[in-house]
Amino acid sequence: MEREYKLFLVLRESGENLKGSDARLPLTTKITLVASFTIIFLSAIFLFVILKDLKWLNSIPAEDLFEAKKSIFIQISAISLIFLLEVLNLIKSLTRNLKTFFTNQIEVLQAVAQGNLESRVTAATHDEFATMAEYTNHMIDKLRERTREVEITQDVTIHSLAAMAELRDPETGAHILRTQRYLRELALELKDTAGYKEVLTPENIELLYKSAPLHDIGKVGVRDAILLKPDRLTADEFEIMKKHTDYGQNILQKAEETLGTNSFLSFAKEIAISHQEKWDGSGYPEGLKGNEIPISGRLMAIADVYDALISRRVYKEPFTHEQTVEKIGEGRGTHFDPVMVDAFMRIEKKFNEIAKNFKET
Ligand SMILES: [Fe+2]
Repeated sequence: MEREYKLFLVLRESGENLKGSDARLPLTTKITLVASFTIIFLSAIFLFVILKDLKWLNSIPAEDLFEAKKSIFIQISAISLIFLLEVLNLIKSLTRNLKTFFTNQIEVLQAVAQGNLESRVTAATHDEFATMAEYTNHMIDKLRERTREVEITQDVTIHSLAAMAELRDPETGAHILRTQRYLRELALELKDTAGYKEVLTPENIELLYKSAPLHDIGKVGVRDAILLKPDRLTADEFEIMKKHTDYGQNILQKAEETLGTNSFLSFAKEIAISHQEKWDGSGYPEGLKGNEIPISGRLMAIADVYDALISRRVYKEPFTHEQTVEKIGEGRGTHFDPVMVDAFMRIEKKFNEIAKNFKET
């Protein structure tokens, strides 16, 4: 048991495992063997001592009997004490090993449950613990493989859909790269703020970042004459343009119906339908107000407007970063979530850097 424990510590340190062996000794057999061996060995000693003492008692004179009995009592007490200490030592080693192996298994499963797929259980024995470690590690490998496949599928889906939107509207290429980065910076700035931190977990921020490029996917449903109009839209044309939020939601809704609900599609759909809503309720398509607007939509509203303002459009010159910051500030509490505008003001330089790094080509 000492050897197993030390081997466990060495293997855990090195991240290696004992090579698998088909000839595994079940833990129950191991415990039975150790206990049986201890009992037989100590019983044999007892028997030997008792037989020896009985023989001795018969051979000594009666006046020495009291002293002899005293000596035998001390002898048996000493052997009993050694027996007890040996059993206690065995129980201590066994429970320490069991505790160490179980703790290792539980810690790895907890880490995996929290999304860490790099954890591995250490196999340092040739019993059920090694089997459990082997299957757990195999399961983690499979999970990591599947997770990677899902991530690739997500990336391919987003890129295909975003590329489709880009084909229709060449203005969107760098816009997509910039807005998803603005959105991530703003989300990171708010990740510890009460009322936001529940949504803005590291996993969700990653999903928001990935799904953000689909916010204007509904524009594929808007006809060229309006989408590519080299001038400001008329009121009627703008009404048609406004439908892109519904179209976007419908496209992603259909994907959800086929593929089943998942957190990635839910965020993409949420952003597509809510990124044109305004804090005071004057936005579209639902006219949602304040906290009724999902956090994802509120984040995208700032990212989208910032980018529209600093960009050149056929009908307007680009605003400078400073002018854009001022405009966003003016929209605090009317167009935008005031807490998000405050967060934006703290990190506006990061927006400027992103805008410079991802210019239109
Ligand atoms: Fe939009």
